[in-house]
Amino acid sequence: MQPSTSNFTSSTPTFPLNAWYACAYDVEVGREILARTICNQKMVLYRTLDGQVCALADACWHRLLPLSMGRLEGDELVCGYHGLHYNAKGRCTSMPSQEGVNPSACVKSYPVVERHRLIWVWTGDPALADPSLIADLHWNQHPDWAADGKLIHVKCDYRLVIDNLMDLTHETYVHGSSIGNAAVAEAPFVATHGDKTATITRWMENIEAPPFWANQLFQARGYKGPVDRWQIIRFEAPSTVTIDVGVAPAGSGAVPNAAGESDRSQGVNGYVLNTMTPETDQTCHYFWAIARNYSLNEQRLTHQMREGVAGIFREDELILEAQQQAINANPGHPFYNLNIDAGAMWARRLIDKMTEAERDKPLAGSPKSFVLKQVA
Ligand code: FES
Ligand SMILES: [Fe+2]
Repeated sequence: MQPSTSNFTSSTPTFPLNAWYACAYDVEVGREILARTICNQKMVLYRTLDGQVCALADACWHRLLPLSMGRLEGDELVCGYHGLHYNAKGRCTSMPSQEGVNPSACVKSYPVVERHRLIWVWTGDPALADPSLIADLHWNQHPDWAADGKLIHVKCDYRLVIDNLMDLTHETYVHGSSIGNAAVAEAPFVATHGDKTATITRWMENIEAPPFWANQLFQARGYKGPVDRWQIIRFEAPSTVTIDVGVAPAGSGAVPNAAGESDRSQGVNGYVLNTMTPETDQTCHYFWAIARNYSLNEQRLTHQMREGVAGIFREDELILEAQQQAINANPGHPFYNLNIDAGAMWARRLIDKMTEAERDKPLAGSPKSFVLKQVA
């Protein structure tokens, strides 16, 4: 394939709004008000007394003071300026110094769902918020898997993180001391795609395992020697990437046969779960977790793996932020696409398809202009 170019730096908007985005880890949301910006929309998150999460716009209906400067009173949010009360649906329930409540007094309430240890928010038309569209991250909360992760705030367009995850040849150069070795950059891969997904499958047969995986296989199965290694990267639009990774003793049946059957029982398997949420056009919330299907009761290992991956992702973060700065310093410079960029190119196409579908249809609940009104 000849290198091609695409001018990724000029297309707007950069993300669809009719989508579920992870906005917080479940443990982050409680009886304190959490302020967060998702897709350029400022919102507040909190739990009602029965534990339900709600998300409201972070600007009071009255004079726009951020509601994150207010306080909770039972299930209600009280503005920190003149004391308007809002219920969990964003409707004003009381106003100071008057008995009636203007029926139009409300702030935007966002659909939210708690799933797989994350809180998901729908930023577009609420009528389209179908929970079955939430990306599958079940490995993060399943009895067959032990998982834990973190949230990173990265100062880059969320699509740069997707590019990074869709091409793991960078492991050889960015993560050479842990998970990368020459085999990743040398191994061929297969790219496939569907309506909402793009997948890169790479098998590295009969290779020396990189230090991290060699150690995992020895600890869990007592095996030392050549391995078959796999990386199956699956993008789900608009911003989730799951990576099925692992190693098994070479020739033990992990490599799928012509019928697609495979036996990974002698190997070790992990899933790297990633979902990137645009904060602004050039910053994002990067939620990730690492799951494994062996030594499930070893909390020590869960901790070690989480911290190990955190160190690896720190290397990515430095690259991504430097890349964003260089993009800003070189406006109009196109991205050149190589074979290794096949997965990223498909991911970008699927994102563009979603944003284009929204382009000509203003969303219900788009920001209105604010006018001074007398409230009786
Ligand atoms: S600005 Fe919130 S009550 Fe006045
Ligand atoms: Fe990386």
